[in-house]
Formats: sequence, structure tokens, C-alpha cells
Amino acid sequence: MATHKLLLLPGDGIGVEVMQEVKKLIAWLEKRGVASFALEEDLVGGAAYDAHKVSITDAAMARANAADAIIFGAVGGPKWDNVVYEQRPEAGLLRLRKELDLFANLRPAIVYPALADSSSLKREIVEGLDILIVRELTGGTYFGEPKEIVTLENGQQRAVDTQVYTTSEIERIASVAFELARVRKNLVHSAEKRNVMKSGLLWNQVVTRTHAAKFPDVKLEHILADNCAMQLVRNPKQFDVLVTDNLFGDILSDAASMLTGSLGMLPSASLGAEDRATGKRKAMYEPVHGSAPDITGKGLANPIAQIGSFGMALRYSLGLVEVADAIERSIARVLQQGHRTADIAALGEKTISTTEMGDAIIAALDREL
Ligand code: NAI
Ligand code: MG
Repeated sequence: MATHKLLLLPGDGIGVEVMQEVKKLIAWLEKRGVASFALEEDLVGGAAYDAHKVSITDAAMARANAADAIIFGAVGGPKWDNVVYEQRPEAGLLRLRKELDLFANLRPAIVYPALADSSSLKREIVEGLDILIVRELTGGTYFGEPKEIVTLENGQQRAVDTQVYTTSEIERIASVAFELARVRKNLVHSAEKRNVMKSGLLWNQVVTRTHAAKFPDVKLEHILADNCAMQLVRNPKQFDVLVTDNLFGDILSDAASMLTGSLGMLPSASLGAEDRATGKRKAMYEPVHGSAPDITGKGLANPIAQIGSFGMALRYSLGLVEVADAIERSIARVLQQGHRTADIAALGEKTISTTEMGDAIIAALDREL
């Protein structure tokens, strides 16, 4: 059995609490002989600052570089509000994203049947929804030059942001989307605005070429980004993998995530370039939520976003798709059984703690594997 090298970076606040549930799950998977892991753990964020006066050490970066996957918790909190800007907790996260060149941001939107009524949309529209938005993260409007505000001779000011994409940037994000589709439902939608943007036209052409050259087995649909926004709220289940640029992806992924309910339920991943020698990608998996100082230390944190992030690592980095599927089904089952942490409980509904939710998921998994 292959041994998978994982680096755990719990971070601060509830990051530590929800990571504890992932550790429990990992220990259980090993004990059951389902998978084998070589675990390392290090500090990031405020915790790293307290110990080393930096938001992440070079040694931790080296471990991150060597790992098959990084499981990240959350960073930040009021304790570090006055730390110098360069070493604030979030800087550790940004350094990881930048140095590992994590250009592909994966945001699933999964609606578990038991929680379909907490969506902003009607149950029949979202029940069973499981889509994956693949957002380009290191290019486009947020980084393109020129980027400036200038004062004109007439006293007006003029602001410029520039949407820039190169062939290779588009090709690599499209390839990620097609590869992911192969371990899902073999369907990719690519969203851009080729009708009004040159970068949209190039995006469309490069995605089409990449598809024809390397992924003809995957079904590809092109969709205009504005229509995509409408379709996401009209009939989101028509999508499986949706690939788009940094700006459209920011908006479309936030909209899609709200189809699903609580922040405590949302996992994510960020993938880097493929290593030519090994064919592996650098990858970091983290919940969308932050360190939640308001509930830290109270056992209130929902561990599902963190456990779901770990599940994504199994699926997308470690090739353990069946185990990932079993974890997804276990999460669905505990929700069906009525287990609720406070963030997903209806008024007056009985709630359980972080640890109890972790235990319930493992108990459900015991029936799956
Ligand atoms: P937050 O995501 O930490 O919390 C927002 C609200 O959602 C809070 O009321 C919190 O209790 C609740 N919540 C979040 N995750 C939950 C979970 N798993 N279970 C139950 N309830 C949950 O965002 P906020 O409050 O804006 O930021 C708090 C700190 O986290 C700040 O220092 C911020 O900079 C940092 N942060 C870090 C992120 C990261 O590490 N990637 C992302 C977002 C914020
Ligand atoms: Mg956003």
C-alpha cells in the first residue's frame, strides 16, 4: 500500500479544533488498513508567530514542498491584530499559495439532502447538488498590469484594471478542470465572455484546443459568464465541473456556495503545477471558513468543512476516490440521522459538539468501508 505524505497545518482558533477531527479520522483509516499516511505537522499563522516571530518558517515551507498534500486549518484572530503586516497570520497562507504557485482554486458546492431546506433556493432545485467550480487564482484582472488610478489634465481621475491571460495560463487551468472531470462526471463547462472580451475569446479558443488535444473523452460546453450566473440559480444541477477565470470565478463560486447553507460545511482546494518527473501536483486543502474567534474553545465548530477538505485531498491528490466517496456518504448519513452542530441546527433542534460530529462521521464510515 502506498504511503501518502501529508503535512497538517492546523493554524489558529477553530483551525486546531477541526483539524483534531481530521487526525482522528486519519488514525481510524490507518487502523482499519484503508490507507497509509506519513504525517507531519507544523505551525502556521498566529501560532507560528508566537513560536518563531514569522507567519510560517522556511522549515515548514520545505515540508510543504515535499508533501503529497497539505491540509490547512485556518489562521488569524484578534490576538495578532497588531503584528507587523508582513508577519500577520494570513501572510503564512499567502506565502504557501504564492511559493507553491497554487493557481487552481477548487470550490465544491454540495447540497446534502438533509440540509436542502437551509439553501436559499427551493429543495427540488438544489437537493443532491454536487458541483465543482475551478477558479483560476493567480492571473486575470486582480493581477494584470497596468493597474492604476491616474489624475487626468481635466482633473478627472481614471482607474484601470487589466484582464490579462496567456495561452499557457489558460491551458494549465483548463487541464486541471478536465482531469478533475475524469474522476467526477466527465463534464466541463467553461465560462467566459468571448462576445465582449478578447481575453474571453482567447480563453474559449485555448480551452477548445486543450480539450481536443488531451481530453476528447470529456464533454465540454462553453457558456457565457453572465448566462452561467443565471443558470447557477435557475438550474444548478446541469453543471458538474465549471472552469472560469479569477474574477468570474470569485463571484460565481461565492454565489454557488450560498446554495448550500453554512460556512462550516464548505471545503476547498488549491492546486499547483504538475511536477514533470512525478506527474504529481502541489496541493493544499482547507475549509473556506476562518479561525472563528467567537466560538473558539467552546466545542461549537462544525468539522465538516475540514473533513470535507481532507476528503478532497484523498480524491484529487492521493487517488483514494473510493474512500473520498465513502466519507461524502458518511457526512450525508450523519446529517440524515439528524446530527447537527449549532451552525446548521434549526431553532430548538438538539446540537452536538465538534468532537461528537467527528465521532458520528467515523461511526458512519465504519458501515461504509
Ligand atoms: P470566520 O469564517 O472565522 O467566521 C465567520 C462566522 O462563521 C463566525 O460567526 C464563525 O463563528 C462562523 N463559523 C466559521 N466557521 C465555522 C465552523 N466551522 N463552524 C461553525 N461556525 C463557523 O470569519 P471572520 O470572523 O471574518 O474571521 C475570523 C478570523 O479568521 C480573522 O482573523 C480572519 O482574518 C481569519 N480568516 C482566516 C481565513 C483562513 O484562514 N483561510 C479565512 C477567513 C478569515
Ligand atoms: Mg470572494
